[in-house]
Amino acid sequence: MAVKRTLASVVLGVVLALPAVADEDPAIAARQGQFKLFAHNFGVMGGMAQGRMDYDAEMAQTAADNLFHLTRVDQGRLWPEGTDSASTEGTRANADIWDNLDDFVSKFVALQEAVEDLQGVAGSGLDEMRAGVMAVGGACQACHEDYRDEAS
Ligand code: HEC
Repeated sequence: MAVKRTLASVVLGVVLALPAVADEDPAIAARQGQFKLFAHNFGVMGGMAQGRMDYDAEMAQTAADNLFHLTRVDQGRLWPEGTDSASTEGTRANADIWDNLDDFVSKFVALQEAVEDLQGVAGSGLDEMRAGVMAVGGACQACHEDYRDEAS
């Protein structure tokens, strides 16, 4: 039994040391988690804009405030070189990001600006919020079109 357990830990040690596993950069999971939080908050306002749920000014404002702060998180350590989909598993980040870093950053800044506008109107009524939601949705989509791979 003891021998088996020792063997198991040796085998596991070898598996964990394989480069394919070691290559998985924790920044990938971190930025995907960030995007999930974007979607979780944006989804509340999207649902109201599309009439899938009743407009609630306070709930909309909270979601917009959250999105504002989430989009202010410094991106500096979330996009290390070599974490593109051509180089590593588990990401849909296209290598074009690193070839067009200025454009990628400008698309992120466009999102920050649209979210700031949305934050200003989210609690002011359904029509006001809806216009802001459309602009933010456009900013999400513009970046995904150029820099996020299709889901496989
Ligand atoms: C500047 C570019 C950019 C902007 C703006 C952007 N995204 Fe993304 N998004 C990406 C990239 C690149 C990925 C792929 C990340 C990866 O797999 O490593 C991604 C992935 C995602 C994912 C999948 C996360 C996962 O679980 O793997 C969701 C959901 C998402 N984005 C939602 C949004 C929403 C909602 C917005 C707008 C509020 C937004 N994104 C704005 C570039 C962007």
